[in-house]
Amino acid sequence: MLSSLNPTTTLAWKELELHAHEMQQRHMKDLFAQDADRFKHFSQHYEDILLDYSKNILSQETLDLLYKLAEDCGVKQATEQMFSGETINGTEGRAVLHVALRNRGDEAVLVDGQDVMPEVRAVLERMKTFAKKIHDGSHTGYSGKPLTQVVNIGIGGSDLGPVMVTEALKPYWIDGREVHFVSNIDGTHLAEVLKNVDPETTLFLVASKTFTTQETMTNARSAREWFLQHGGNQEDVAKHFIALSTNAEGVKDFGIAEDNMFGFWDWVGGRYSLSSSIGMSIALTVGFDRFAELLDGLHNMDTHFRHAPLSENLPVKLALIGLWYTNFFDAETEAILPYDQYMHRFPAYFQQGNMESNGKSVDRDGNPIEDYDTGPIIWGEPGTNGQHAFYQLIHQGTRIIPCDFIAPAISHNPLGDHHAILLSNFFAQTEALMNGKTAAQVQDELAADGMDDSEIAKLVPFKVFDGNQPTNSILVKQLTPYTLGQLIALYEHKIFVQGVIWNIYSFDQWGVELGKQLAKAILPELRGDDAVSSHDSSTNGLINTFKRWRA
Ligand code: F6P
Repeated sequence: MLSSLNPTTTLAWKELELHAHEMQQRHMKDLFAQDADRFKHFSQHYEDILLDYSKNILSQETLDLLYKLAEDCGVKQATEQMFSGETINGTEGRAVLHVALRNRGDEAVLVDGQDVMPEVRAVLERMKTFAKKIHDGSHTGYSGKPLTQVVNIGIGGSDLGPVMVTEALKPYWIDGREVHFVSNIDGTHLAEVLKNVDPETTLFLVASKTFTTQETMTNARSAREWFLQHGGNQEDVAKHFIALSTNAEGVKDFGIAEDNMFGFWDWVGGRYSLSSSIGMSIALTVGFDRFAELLDGLHNMDTHFRHAPLSENLPVKLALIGLWYTNFFDAETEAILPYDQYMHRFPAYFQQGNMESNGKSVDRDGNPIEDYDTGPIIWGEPGTNGQHAFYQLIHQGTRIIPCDFIAPAISHNPLGDHHAILLSNFFAQTEALMNGKTAAQVQDELAADGMDDSEIAKLVPFKVFDGNQPTNSILVKQLTPYTLGQLIALYEHKIFVQGVIWNIYSFDQWGVELGKQLAKAILPELRGDDAVSSHDSSTNGLINTFKRWRA
């Protein structure tokens, strides 16, 4: 079990509060002016990753206090507890061992005294064999044609990770392979995907940890129905449908044979499951060897996180810098801004990763958390699109919005000047967010344009940028399966460290249950034409209008 400690009772927290009053008066511009080597002092190279955290409102004293906080809150002990398979998911009574899925060494990982690694390796081996058969055409569809199209049916963690990774690794796709994802219960999602696939050449992956999720099971049943109506028969289902799940019984009930099920374990959280059999769509799209390279990158960052001291630990740094703004600057949100089109779903993936993990308001003793904030709102879009949409508010709005800028130095598509232009925008934005623009600079610019003094005076306040908006810059040499794996684990462990300090359980998600329960109760009420009166007036009004308007 993880220990429980209100972080605000530590000396480090109290010192951070005092220190924050001082730092809130500082401008980053001055911090740079005072230290010509600020970049050197506040950045870290790790393999082909550079984390530059110098453009933050922090000093060495800030970092030292934050490391002290991490120490006082037992981050190192908690990390060891996770890696050694202790039951750290307290409300579900489970270990948290996504790190075992990509344990590429020969170290045993024990859960209840049992080494889970032989099973992990066995599933990976089965995935490898299956992917090979699909790729070499020895596993064909019912008409003997190779299965070149994959449809992954899953939602949340059984969708977002595979979507994000297959998109990020598009340059590595095997020629002639196609992958589609169906997540939404809205029939439109499945219908649109089915328009683009051929039943003879399509493999459906039913991806669900629990194999009970309403959206996934409904989509899977409809997909099977479509398959049966478009040439396949009951026996052919075995060739075209496989299950990725922990629930063998549920898979059998659905009608998928054991041979076609690739399992994983209850100690893998859904939003941390892309390196389990849930990653089958990745292996089928880029090949198992590339999937293994992704696992290597994940494992590499896991090892760094486990062993590097706090002050040299990339996930710890990201976590503490985020926490600094959430708890001591009242920041409400954090933006993840990849300057790489292939990474366009990275923010969405970590929106679930962060918000489902750390969106909690009860501490590990079961008490309400009243004196500090926990998980921030996570959002983001790829640059430069975001610049033309929401950056205005980051530059000149009233809020502080810490941003992570992420980019590869080498593009997979070196097209003319595109990559240099893209990166010039990345560098310019972080510079602008830090420095801002003073009234004097605006005046000089407008005067140089020939504007008269009274016009200048009117415009100046609107054209001033305060700056002092914090950013982390993460530059990777190139986006490869390996570096992507490193980036994923970097952000996963950031979430873990923050959850430990905030004294919450990061690996349950009870908050999603209520809506599911109510939807199940409302569904039968939508049948028939009778008006409903069992809810509040708003819900009744909405349901009854829907009933009147539907065809
Ligand atoms: O509703 C939330 C959730 O439980 C997520 O945590 C999970 O990733 C998603 O639903 C899908 O769950 P499953 O893989 O069991 O279908």
